[in-house]
Amino acid sequence: MFRSHTCGELRLNDAGKKVKLAGWVQKMRDFGGMTFLDLRDRYGITQLVFDMQADKDLCEKARQLGREYVIQVQGTVAERSNKNPKLPTGDIEIIVEKLQVLNASKTPPFTIEDETDGGEDLRMKYRYLDLRRGVLKRNMELRHKLGLATRKYLSEQGFIDIETPYLIKSTPEGARDFVVPSRMNRGQFYALPQSPQTFKQLLMVSGYDRYYQIVKCFRDEDLRADRQPEFTQIDCEMSFVDREDVLALFEGLLIHLFKEVKGIDLERAERMSYEDAMRLYGTDKPDIRFGMSFHELDDLAKGHGFRVFDDAGLVAGICVEGAASYSRKQLDELTEFVKKPQVGARGLVYVKYNADGSFKSSVDKFYSAEDLEAWAARMQARPGDLMLIMAGEKEATRKALGVLRLELAERLGLRKADEFKLLWIVDFPLLEWVEEEERFVALHHPFTRPRAEDLELLASDPGRVKAEAYDLTLNGNEIAGGSIRIHERALQEQMFEALGIRREEAEAKFGFLMKAFEYGAPPHGGIAFGFDRLAALMGGSESIRDFIAFPKNNHGRDVMLDAPSPIDDTQLDELGLCLKGKK
Ligand code: AMO
Repeated sequence: MFRSHTCGELRLNDAGKKVKLAGWVQKMRDFGGMTFLDLRDRYGITQLVFDMQADKDLCEKARQLGREYVIQVQGTVAERSNKNPKLPTGDIEIIVEKLQVLNASKTPPFTIEDETDGGEDLRMKYRYLDLRRGVLKRNMELRHKLGLATRKYLSEQGFIDIETPYLIKSTPEGARDFVVPSRMNRGQFYALPQSPQTFKQLLMVSGYDRYYQIVKCFRDEDLRADRQPEFTQIDCEMSFVDREDVLALFEGLLIHLFKEVKGIDLERAERMSYEDAMRLYGTDKPDIRFGMSFHELDDLAKGHGFRVFDDAGLVAGICVEGAASYSRKQLDELTEFVKKPQVGARGLVYVKYNADGSFKSSVDKFYSAEDLEAWAARMQARPGDLMLIMAGEKEATRKALGVLRLELAERLGLRKADEFKLLWIVDFPLLEWVEEEERFVALHHPFTRPRAEDLELLASDPGRVKAEAYDLTLNGNEIAGGSIRIHERALQEQMFEALGIRREEAEAKFGFLMKAFEYGAPPHGGIAFGFDRLAALMGGSESIRDFIAFPKNNHGRDVMLDAPSPIDDTQLDELGLCLKGKK
């Protein structure tokens, strides 16, 4: 037997027991006569004591140990005179009688502590050491619990877990595919799935009316804190449901997960149309933990000789509560912030509604106190508040104002870590016009069902068609997306047509799905959650990397494996990618 207990297990009522422990040397303190050692494993830390007087050789042996050595000890549990209330095992220690070194360790390149001295690159290179740290261990545990609770909920709701293939033909989710060359079919390629979208729809045709899978997806897209080239979805599909059924069931999943994993009673999700989200918050994933929604001022602000406003497609602002006292420096900082290329605004107009009821603004030249009072009324500002206004092309202005809103919320501490707000965004447009390609693309994906009342517009005015699609957002992050699907061949063909995809191309790419629709496809719909994102948000972070055991860096590289990497000529040759002797 390697160990009788783990390092997180022993308590005062175990005093006197003979035990065997195994683990890693976390820390050593040598006091001459006594040597104390913290032994760590996945479960915790237990203090070991080596007594010089009791056994000099043993004590000498312990002093030779270095950080991260793997050892096994045998000894007796004793009450500690100097208790450590911060450790669950802090009341006891092990008086060691036998010590065996199971493996030596080089000194790790960074400290294995929650607050480590290692930079991100170094930690990624030695990810197996980074994963020893308590922070990452807790993240992995949270992810595990989340997976388990998800399976429990979905299984209880009648969903079954069915695996779908990874070597497939492209599924369009808006990103580029990762491709895999086929040795047996030279010159041909599989694509790794961007999602199991078409397979889950085929499963509905097969009659598996409630499917789910916690599944890897692959997308070759630019990376950000909340995006990885391979990531995990909780992917679900249901038959014989309408939008309301799907929303209710998956809101239920979130409520279950928060209760089960974090002990939090989550409020029901709010709902907002895509149009309102864009108009009021400038984004399709607004953080609704706080207010500061937009107010449009075109009718009040235009026509006073201020060119910036007069020429603008939109003049809109936000009211920042209690911020009239912002200094010149603070306002300049905000102006600099919105002018950054990432935000892209030309400038920022401020109106201070002073505590005494007077106004001070950067546009006093153009507007009277009465004018500004009308703005204040529109923006529901009270004395002591600050109004910040932007103008320009409509969509760009909304987007920039949305970024400013988040920045202010951050500065004002309104994005509280322990508050969670769910919001469904519904009534998305079905299509989006892409100027560079001069064509419509699907906002979600081409299998999304147009709203019944808009079906007629699909041929005549596709831009106005709304979709039976929905996104679930949590604290300003998109955690899930889905829709009711097209299940009829004719409508699917019409959709491809609206997307400017030729009949032959649609047939070549999606003929299999459209054919399946001809064999009794039931009405169906579904959703997919970003599992890594959900884990990160529930763990209090917006970066998913720390919730993935072996993530890629910002350049899509695994720096530990040094992948991607070239392959040798023989392999290339075999795959028909490049013939020997030829470049
Ligand atoms: P969608 O593309 O919206 O929908 O993806 C669903 C959810 O997956 C997460 N996600 C990502 N997480 C990490 N890294 C990425 N690169 C990444 N891309 C997406 C997001 C997102 O909300 N087949 C459809 C679902 C459906 O219609 O049922 C789909 O994949 O949290």
